[in-house]
Amino acid sequence: MKMPLDDIRILDLTHVWFGPWSTMMMAYMGAEVIRVEPPWGAIDRMAEGALFGGASYTFHHLNINKKDLTLNLKDPEGKKVFLELVKKSDIIVQNFSPGTMEKLGLGYEVLKEAKPDIIYAALSGFGQYGPYTSRRSFAAIAEAMSGHTRLTGERSDPDGPPVEMAQAYGDLGPGTMASMAILAALRHRDRTGVGQMIDVAQLDCMVAYNTAITGYLLSGMMPVELREKYPRGRGVGGLIKTKDGGWIRLAAFGPRAMDRIVQHMGVELDDISKEMIEEMVADLTRDDAVKLFTGIGLPCAPVYHVDETVEDPHVNARDMFVELEHPEAGKIKLINFPVKFSETQPELKTPAPLLGQHNKEILTELLGYDDETIQDLMKKGVISYQA
Ligand SMILES: CC(C)(COP(=O)(O)OP(=O)(O)OC[C@H]1O[C@@H](n2cnc3c(N)ncnc32)[C@H](O)[C@@H]1OP(=O)(O)O)[C@@H](O)C(=O)NCCC(=O)NCCS
Repeated sequence: MKMPLDDIRILDLTHVWFGPWSTMMMAYMGAEVIRVEPPWGAIDRMAEGALFGGASYTFHHLNINKKDLTLNLKDPEGKKVFLELVKKSDIIVQNFSPGTMEKLGLGYEVLKEAKPDIIYAALSGFGQYGPYTSRRSFAAIAEAMSGHTRLTGERSDPDGPPVEMAQAYGDLGPGTMASMAILAALRHRDRTGVGQMIDVAQLDCMVAYNTAITGYLLSGMMPVELREKYPRGRGVGGLIKTKDGGWIRLAAFGPRAMDRIVQHMGVELDDISKEMIEEMVADLTRDDAVKLFTGIGLPCAPVYHVDETVEDPHVNARDMFVELEHPEAGKIKLINFPVKFSETQPELKTPAPLLGQHNKEILTELLGYDDETIQDLMKKGVISYQA
């Protein structure tokens, strides 16, 4: 099957969540994504304590369908190899702290000289300019400054401490944004022949994801004040505990949901409240409560932990998991690309690569190096010995 990006090559200098997620989107859509790692391994390869076939579970999660080349970019020979690869590539993505590429002698001007129509995406915490540009960042940093951490805490207790979101949405959101921007730049290049640099900041993206900021800009009120002043606007819902100790999440928002509650539950509109729902649910198990509410057309879900998500029949019917063989970890199950295409379905083809797994393939097939040259690069530590 022809895939939308199967004539596109990406040099993926990313390390840690934000960047690898962004390039993985494009690897799924057919691009040849070559992760370029230092010979000693990038910091995300062993990001957690538990390792599976030599890599952390987040590395397995974020590097599907990619190839791996080790290259010491601080070594002049490594840099030379990299610039040869740039000439044969369409896109370069990195998520180092700003200034790192320039220090390596691989700033945009240098990359552009090697490949005039290159698309270069620089992903960072605070962007390539501005007062905080030099600050290092992880997802939680952008979540904190964009208001999400405060808001998450405030949702459960308006006077309580800030609460961090589970998972790194400050990486995954901006990473998705980065791939979308790269695809737009690719379309522009294909129409005009002109490449460009893309500056994606986690903080900018997380500000853009925070609708409460627009609420504040329009009303001048803080989120809690706004909710207190206009309490009815959102309907009824929240996390509700059930008889068996489980939880449901009800989201009965909007007038149609209110109508359904009145019609099916024999209550007056003015009596609908979270307390009323809590009372109703107190005698039901989690799964019966979900059945009751979904049965009358209200958005409602059981609150799962990850083991139940993996077992859920609907999630499985949507092909969200794929089992495949990893050269070191054996048979493993990974999460599939979530969006369904009618013509060009992205497929999980290969698990996250081993360190330097494709050194020989890339140097031979793309750059025409012979065995002797490759051995020499290995001996000098410019590339690692192949796994
Ligand atoms: C994630 C982050 C905090 C890590 O900080 P860090 O470990 O100090 O890493 P930096 O990006 O500053 O630098 C990477 C270093 O590895 C070196 N490096 C990276 N790839 C290399 C390679 N292939 N060969 C040789 N050296 C390499 C860089 O040259 C740099 O060296 P230097 O410190 O001597 O300049 C930082 O990269 C960052 O803020 N990134 C942007 C925001 C982001 O994406 N955060 C992660 C989201 S979870």
